[in-house]
Amino acid sequence: MRNRTKIIVGSLGFLLAVNPALVHAVPKERFDQGSQMCRKLTFFNSGWVSEGAALFKKNCKSCHYHGNDKGARFLYSESFTPRAWNRIFYEKTVQCANDGSWSGLDQEQLRKINDYLYLNGFGTYDPNDAESCG
Ligand code: HEC
Repeated sequence: MRNRTKIIVGSLGFLLAVNPALVHAVPKERFDQGSQMCRKLTFFNSGWVSEGAALFKKNCKSCHYHGNDKGARFLYSESFTPRAWNRIFYEKTVQCANDGSWSGLDQEQLRKINDYLYLNGFGTYDPNDAESCG
């Protein structure tokens, strides 16, 4: 009987541990397929003031802003889901990743941009999260 209770409590703990969505909508970690590393997403204020956010603004928003004349669509963190952002940075099949527009950035800088976009991707906004209420 006691063992059974332990197993049930243990499995519940396991479920919560492997499925962060059950606990919290905002991801705390990101598995980076390229480097095979688990990256901790412990930014202040959802990463709006993170290095990744600044790098995105400087190196990506330079083209991807409203009304640009470079043929680039407007992009912001919620343009894609966190998983889609991971795919974009891992597969690097988008036009600008191949025409040299990303070449000024090293791998770690790209990972930081990926971290920021992942953390704030489409569907991550949680109105019940203290970080999201201003
Ligand atoms: C020199 C201009 C330029 C820069 C800098 C640039 N891009 Fe692009 N990007 C483009 C163009 C042009 C396209 C193709 C048209 C489109 O889909 O917006 C594109 C396409 C994309 C797409 C595909 C969009 C879709 O809907 O299929 C993504 C995602 C993207 N860029 C992300 C980035 C990221 C992330 C950065 C910074 C690391 C970046 N871009 C930097 C010009 C740029």
